[in-house]
Amino acid sequence: MTDPASRPDPAGPTLLPTLPGAAYTSAEVFAREQERIFERVWTCAVHGSDLAEPGQFRTVPVGRESVLITRALDGAVHAFLNVCRHRGARLCVEAAGRTRRTLRCPYHAWTYSLDGSLVAAPNLADAPDVDRSAYGLHRVHVREWLGYVWVCPAASPPSFEETVIGAATERLGDPAAIERYQVAGLRVGRRVSYDVAANWKLLVENFLECYHCPAIHPELVRVLPEFARGYAAQYYVGHGAEFGPDVAGFTVDGSPGVERLPGLAPAQERRYYAITIRPQVFVNLVPDHVILHRMFPVAADRTLVECDWLYLPAVVEAGTDLDRSVELFDRVNRQDFAACERCQPAMASRAYARGGVLVPSEHHLGAFHDWVRRLQA
Ligand code: FES
Ligand code: FE
Repeated sequence: MTDPASRPDPAGPTLLPTLPGAAYTSAEVFAREQERIFERVWTCAVHGSDLAEPGQFRTVPVGRESVLITRALDGAVHAFLNVCRHRGARLCVEAAGRTRRTLRCPYHAWTYSLDGSLVAAPNLADAPDVDRSAYGLHRVHVREWLGYVWVCPAASPPSFEETVIGAATERLGDPAAIERYQVAGLRVGRRVSYDVAANWKLLVENFLECYHCPAIHPELVRVLPEFARGYAAQYYVGHGAEFGPDVAGFTVDGSPGVERLPGLAPAQERRYYAITIRPQVFVNLVPDHVILHRMFPVAADRTLVECDWLYLPAVVEAGTDLDRSVELFDRVNRQDFAACERCQPAMASRAYARGGVLVPSEHHLGAFHDWVRRLQA
């Protein structure tokens, strides 16, 4: 008999280990990820149209923080920690709202302008030596790209060009590829919010691989027949996944889509491209629309997702029927999230304590695991 310790790895040389189960269930691990990943990187927070008018605001969870994003009267976008500088009350408890010109804390009525400066505080005349300019809201870094507002609460954010734009374009091979979709000029035609009972890393891993596609995505595989082989477009077909010969558009039944985006390269006319911008954005590019997912992890076993379907403004303004277009990826999302929710409770099993394995077509997930380990170390 062979000594079990000297036996070759039962997984064999082509199966790589995953993260252990606790990485998906532990509150401690999640807290470390919030602090060391989500509070230090750029988060795609809201679409610009969520703040279409001066005075509109949104709040989003970013790591352990709530971040408040405002459109000021001059049109500029600002972001702050959603905490009153006086005694720390949550300034805005709503996910979205609109105010005329100021934000007033409901506790003792400190009042801030939409650019975060403290403009009024009752009875402060009794303390004339207090410098009001020192008590504005804590600023959070802001960038705008692809029509979205991106925020980073870190004191020194990482390079947006490298970690967001560079990361989004490197997988497409051609840095101009995403530019041709002119995403910033598109309009939100539909938004669906999902409340997923699964760890955020399960969602990322799922999006990165297509080994599951033939098993759970019948509609997607019909439109993109090469997915039947289980290879992920963004890693194995950098040219994009081609529509099937009888497929007219990226719709639930392969019927024609809506008006094409102008300016695409010939190679982009009948193909689907998928991009992951770690850690919380998934982008899908097809000839007539763009689908952008933003994930907001709120607990080790819960992730909120907002998914936008973006079209040419004329398509949305004309009231075009978008149902078949939206239904394809809405079904894909529900199929994916159901799979993630099926995994989540089993992550706590003794059977998964040391994790599972990645088959060769999933080996690129190892790079995501390495990234997570490096950032949370
Ligand atoms: Fe906001 Fe006192 S906590 S005014
Ligand atoms: Fe999927």
